Amino acid sequence: MAGRDIDLRAAINAISDVIQNRPRPIRTLDQIYMKAGDMVLQSELVAKWADKKRLVFIGDGDAISVCVAYLKHKGILEYGPSRITVFDFDERICGAVNRFADHERLDTLNAVLYNAIDPFPKEGLFDCFYTNPPWGASNQGASVHVFAERGMEAVGYAGEGMVVIADDDELEWPQTVLATTQRFALERGFYVQKMASKVHVYHLDDAPGLKSCNLMLKALPSNKSPGPSSAITDPQRLKNFYGRDQDVRIRYVKEKKRVDYGKANDTEYEFEHFSGDRDE
Ligand SMILES: C[S@@+](CC[C@H](N)C(=O)[O-])C[C@H]1O[C@@H](n2cnc3c(N)ncnc32)[C@H](O)[C@@H]1O
Repeated sequence: MAGRDIDLRAAINAISDVIQNRPRPIRTLDQIYMKAGDMVLQSELVAKWADKKRLVFIGDGDAISVCVAYLKHKGILEYGPSRITVFDFDERICGAVNRFADHERLDTLNAVLYNAIDPFPKEGLFDCFYTNPPWGASNQGASVHVFAERGMEAVGYAGEGMVVIADDDELEWPQTVLATTQRFALERGFYVQKMASKVHVYHLDDAPGLKSCNLMLKALPSNKSPGPSSAITDPQRLKNFYGRDQDVRIRYVKEKKRVDYGKANDTEYEFEHFSGDRDE
């Protein structure tokens, strides 16, 4: 962390607490988690970028929201947002965020169950948005645009946003998605203030080298909201949302059984005793 004056060991250990608390990713819904080292750097960056601001996350399986709140709460970072709210359609993720916040007394952090296809319920209540959306490999970025639109609504088409998407010069689709996303942003009065290229890697078996960037957007001072938030109904925006033939069909992922994510589930193992008996 060249040039950054933080206790690296304490930061990594804090991120490790957050990782223990993450539910396992559902690959068919494009849940692919960022690796630990990149989470440390990303959290520090986000905390500085959103210092003293109200920050909203549109989806956050990675749990960067939790890291940012926790690092500040533990005094590892001296800066960070004044308020963080996560909107995610996975009840396991919302539950894990809220339980961690409750356990660690992070009173600036909460999560709300919400599907990005539905109208956004809290327009204009935030100063900046963060999203690491489904990357739009099979829909030219349409899924990224849905998440970015919700972020723009959350900040009332003012303020700033950070969009984390694929970044690879060898593949065609990430370049297409980067271009369509920048166009989408410009058409809505947001310009690209900065782009940090290829700064994160993921637990992604079929493409372990695929990296993502931080695309930082800022609203033009004269920008205005194009109208109230509404449901996404155009089938073209919903097709191949999570990859080829993975359209949007699920409103919520509901938590069946509350598990302690950091510990082995009792369905995964059984004990065999010295006597040869097994516990049922
Ligand atoms: C799709 S993943 C993208 C990869 C990212 N690294 C991750 O796993 O968080 C981003 C987050 O969006 C959430 N998500 C996916 N579809 C959603 C939807 N329609 N509405 C709200 N959240 C959604 C997922 O649950 C996940 O937490």
